[in-house]
Amino acid sequence: MSVRIRFDGTELTGRDGQTIAGVLVGSGRRSWRTAAGAERGVFCGIGICQDCIVTVNGVEGVRACQRTACDGDLVEREAR
Ligand code: FES
Repeated sequence: MSVRIRFDGTELTGRDGQTIAGVLVGSGRRSWRTAAGAERGVFCGIGICQDCIVTVNGVEGVRACQRTACDGDLVEREAR
């Protein structure tokens, strides 16, 4: 079974149960946020560093490494 999310205007497909970070990395992305001019993506992968935060369906500050991707999720970059 697969899930489809939307990121940067592009539909991405992942496996059922995969995190949003997993779907993003699986699609070849290594970063999806900037902080102090530096690119950020997954760093710790366990919910501590908050480098991976994104906005999901309008909710800010979601840790992409902890949130399971759900079919139809709209994922947006954050600049903070
Ligand atoms: S990668 Fe560290 S909180 Fe998600």
